[in-house]
Amino acid sequence: MEVAGDGAQARIVLKDLTKIYGGGSGSEVPAVDTVSFDVREGEFVALIGPSGCGKSTILNMVAGLIPISGGEILIDERPVVTGTPTPKVGYVFQRDTVYPWRTVRKNIGLGLELNGVPKAERERQVAEIVGRAGLDGFEDAFPITLSGGMRQRVSLMRTLIMRPEILLMDEPFGALDTHTKLEMHKLLLEIWNQEQQTVVFVTHDLGEALTLSDKIIVLSARPGRLKEIFDVPFERPRDAVSLRETPEFSALFSKIWHSLGEEFRRTSAEG
Ligand SMILES: Nc1ncnc2c1ncn2[C@@H]1O[C@H](COP(=O)(O)OP(=O)(O)O)[C@@H](O)[C@H]1O
Ligand SMILES: [Mg+2]
Repeated sequence: MEVAGDGAQARIVLKDLTKIYGGGSGSEVPAVDTVSFDVREGEFVALIGPSGCGKSTILNMVAGLIPISGGEILIDERPVVTGTPTPKVGYVFQRDTVYPWRTVRKNIGLGLELNGVPKAERERQVAEIVGRAGLDGFEDAFPITLSGGMRQRVSLMRTLIMRPEILLMDEPFGALDTHTKLEMHKLLLEIWNQEQQTVVFVTHDLGEALTLSDKIIVLSARPGRLKEIFDVPFERPRDAVSLRETPEFSALFSKIWHSLGEEFRRTSAEG
């Protein structure tokens, strides 16, 4: 097992990870450029950077959904193989990916169903997680009747019910209004406190990154390069609302904002 600086085990290791899309007739898009970092067991890492800097690309490569162009990715010391999903890994996408023709119960239970878990056991697990997500009473509702926040809860729970040890999240709350987003932060912190998954959370929202993570990795404007890594030393368990009102939060926010701001300006200057 690769050992990170403080002795904890590194579960995810990126070494000089590079991605160039396209190729052939001069249409190459360099998206990610020699990015290296480790994520330790039980660590919550936020990956932040301006739009188009390669955040989703990195996550998709870690998930084995798209091939890498250079460098390497190891999960528990094994190279990720494109197209071979790792059962330990759960992925929550930016857009809620609930199936409109399935009820809440059937959406959340989908993974268990595909894995052949018997109905009674499936229903027991779904009932438990529905309670945790505050979706009681909506088990038989179809997604169209739910708010955006509730649909994203369904998406989240559908992933969490599979008990992933590693959780990849791509701006999962990006489409939600501020209030609903804070509610989701509370829920996620609660779940993470109990289960301590190893998390890579992609966002362009610095407040969100500070609220949730142990470590913030700032990427440069496209092609994404590692710019700076910040530790987030706030004690846990955290309260998603009151944390934001502390002077420590404001101080760290300002510090990272400066680093990040340069990259956002580069992105808008490019047009
Ligand atoms: N399938 C693709 N083919 C070509 N270019 C792509 C593809 N997917 C993403 N890109 C480009 O790669 C860059 C990084 O994209 P992405 O990883 O989606 O950024 P982010 O998630 O940080 O907004 C962008 O310039 C985007 O246009
Ligand atoms: Mg993205």
